[in-house]
This record gives sequence, structure tokens and C-alpha cells, in this order.
Amino acid sequence: MIRRAIPDDAPALAALHADSFAKMWSVDEFRALLHDPAVMSFVAPKGFVLVRRAADEAEILTICVENAVRGSQLGVALLRRAAAALHAAGATTLFLEVSLANAPARRLYAKLGFEEAGRRRAYYGPSEDALILRAPLPLGNATRSTNIASAKQGRSRDAD
Ligand SMILES: CC(C)(COP(=O)(O)OP(=O)(O)OC[C@H]1O[C@@H](n2cnc3c(N)ncnc32)[C@H](O)[C@@H]1OP(=O)(O)O)[C@@H](O)C(=O)NCCC(=O)NCCS
Repeated sequence: MIRRAIPDDAPALAALHADSFAKMWSVDEFRALLHDPAVMSFVAPKGFVLVRRAADEAEILTICVENAVRGSQLGVALLRRAAAALHAAGATTLFLEVSLANAPARRLYAKLGFEEAGRRRAYYGPSEDALILRAPLPLGNATRSTNIASAKQGRSRDAD
């Protein structure tokens, strides 16, 4: 069900992304990313993830799951698939950036063992900070109650 994305997937990925995020990425931007040899992309019928690797470090560029099927573990499956591929390619650390207000995403990342590595004040707007999260690869199953508790306090809102 989850496969590598190809450049012809760009329109579908752009449409899925536009449903999830206020800041749209164009079809051409997706096509360029899908042609980039440093980028790995995995797609399912109703979700996808894009990651980029540089030597032993990698980052999640974006992940989204169609609203109608959220909560059915597709996000976890996409992240695990991408993390396994990154690890196989030599990455040992995976970073990402998430809005402090994005509770669903923060819980997903906490569930997979991501921990705070930094914070960018007012990154998404005057009162919306970005968290930089980091996890060692391969991903484990770590679930820290402190992460979950703090994520529960955030509002549910999409952010890159
Ligand atoms: C974040 C996102 C990708 C999660 O995808 P998903 O397929 O719904 O997530 P899963 O079903 O795999 O959920 C995995 C875990 O995430 C957390 N989670 C997911 N949705 C949640 C919600 N609405 N509220 C609280 N926690 C949630 C839970 O811990 C869940 O584990 P559980 O089912 O054992 O409780 C999805 O909500 C999404 O596309 N959001 C919009 C785009 C976005 O914000 N992307 C991340 C940007 S950093």
C-alpha cells in the first residue's frame, strides 16, 4: 500500500498537501522534490511523506494524511517506512519541525521517540513557535509521558 513516489505523483501530492496546509506547495515544487536524489518520498492512496538525507542526518520535509482517514495509523506507517529507508541509506538522526500548536502531529512524533532539540520563536506567526524535534535512527517505540502531556495542551492545527 505504501510505495515510493515518482515525479508523476506530483499533482496528487500537491492536492493532498493543499488539503492539509494553509501554505500550498505547487505541483512544480513537488515535481522538483521528487526529482531530487537527496529526497525520498513515500506515498499511499491517502497520504505521503517526503524526507531528505545529507550524510548521516535527515529531515522530514512534510507529511500529511487525508483528513477522512486520519487516526488509522497511516501517519505512523509512512514515518516508519521513511525512517527505515533513511537508516538503510546511512542516516542516524532524523529531525523535523512542527508547530507547538499542532497537537496531533506532536503526539505522533512523541509516540515514535522524537524529543525536543530546539525552538524557533514566532516561526509560524507572531504567537506560534516551531519546535525542532530529533530522533535517533532506527526509530524505536519510545513514548514519553511528558511529551504526550505537553502535546495535549496544544491546539490542533496544521503546520509544516
Ligand atoms: C499528523 C498526521 C500526519 C497524523 O497522521 P494520522 O495517520 O492521522 O496519524 P496516526 O493515525 O498514524 O496516529 C498516530 C498517533 O498520532 C497521534 N494522533 C494522531 N491524530 C491525533 C489527534 N487528532 N489527536 C491527538 N493525537 C493524534 C496519536 O498519538 C496516534 O497514536 P494512537 O492512535 O495510538 O493514539 C495527520 O494528522 C495530518 O496529516 N495532519 C495535517 C498535516 C500535518 O500537520 N502534518 C505534520 C506537520 S509537522
